[in-house]
Amino acid sequence: MRKILIIGIGAGNPDYVTVQAINALNQADVFFIPDKGTEKAALGRLRKDICERFIERSDYRLVPVPIPERAPAGTNYRGSVDEWHARIAHDYEGLFTEELGDGECGAFLVWGDPTLYDSTLRIVEHIRARGFALEYDVIPGISSVQALAARHRVALNRIGEPVLITTGRKLAEGFPNNLDSVVVMLDGDQAFKSVAGEDLDIYWGAYLGTKDEILIAGKLSEVMGDIERIRREAREEMGWIMDTYLLRRRDED
Ligand SMILES: C[S@@+](CC[C@H](N)C(=O)[O-])C[C@H]1O[C@@H](n2cnc3c(N)ncnc32)[C@H](O)[C@@H]1O
Repeated sequence: MRKILIIGIGAGNPDYVTVQAINALNQADVFFIPDKGTEKAALGRLRKDICERFIERSDYRLVPVPIPERAPAGTNYRGSVDEWHARIAHDYEGLFTEELGDGECGAFLVWGDPTLYDSTLRIVEHIRARGFALEYDVIPGISSVQALAARHRVALNRIGEPVLITTGRKLAEGFPNNLDSVVVMLDGDQAFKSVAGEDLDIYWGAYLGTKDEILIAGKLSEVMGDIERIRREAREEMGWIMDTYLLRRRDED
C-alpha cells in the first residue's frame, strides 16, 4: 500500500517545523512540490530549504507538481473549487502511480497547518473515494493565525468568548453582530475597508515568520490607510504577498 504524509511545516519560519514534522520528513521517499507561480516560487524555495535542513537521509526525491489554474468562480464559487479539486485529484493519481512504488511513502509539505484553508486533505480523500488504495496521516503545523497572534503578543479570543476564522470574501458581507474577534485570511481585496465604520482594532501581519515580516496594529480607521499603502508597496516589490489579520471590537477588555 502506498502512503502519503500531509505535513504542516508552519507559516514561514523554518523554526516553526515541529519534532513530529521532522520525524515525518525523514520517513518520506518522495516529496511532491506544488508549483503555482511567483508567490509559490518563494514558498517552493522555503520547502526545499526545509528538506535540506531537516532530512538526514540523502535518497529522497523531489517531484514538482504543476497545479492547473482554477476557472474564474463567477456566481458558483463552490462549484468552481470542486471542479478544480477533481482535476488536481486526477493529476495526483497519475503522479502517485508513476512516482510512488508500492510500499513507498510520499509527502506533501503544507504551508502552515494542513487543516486550515488548505485543499490537500480534501484532494487526498477525493483520490481514495475514486478507489485508489492509499493510506495517509496528517501532521499539524503552526498556522499563520498562531504566528500572527504570537508576533502581536495578543490572545485570539477574549476571556470565555469565541473567535471566528474567516475569509476576506465573507468579511465583505459585514462584521458579525454577535462576535468581537474575527481573524481574516485569503483577503486579496483588503475587505477590512468594508467594516471601517465599526469601532475595531486591527492586528495585521504580512510574510509572517519570514525575514520580510511586516506587523501593523492600531485602531482600524486610523491605520487602514497605512496598511493599504504598505501592502501595495510590498506586493509590488516582492511580486506576491500573504497577509492575515485579527479584527477586535474596541469596547471592552
Ligand atoms: C491557502 S491559505 C493557507 C493557510 C495555512 N494553511 C495556514 O495554516 O496558515 C493562505 C492564506 O493564509 C494566510 N497566510 C499564510 N501564511 C502567511 C504568512 N506567512 N503571513 C501572513 N499570512 C499568511 C494568508 O491569509 C493567505 O492568504
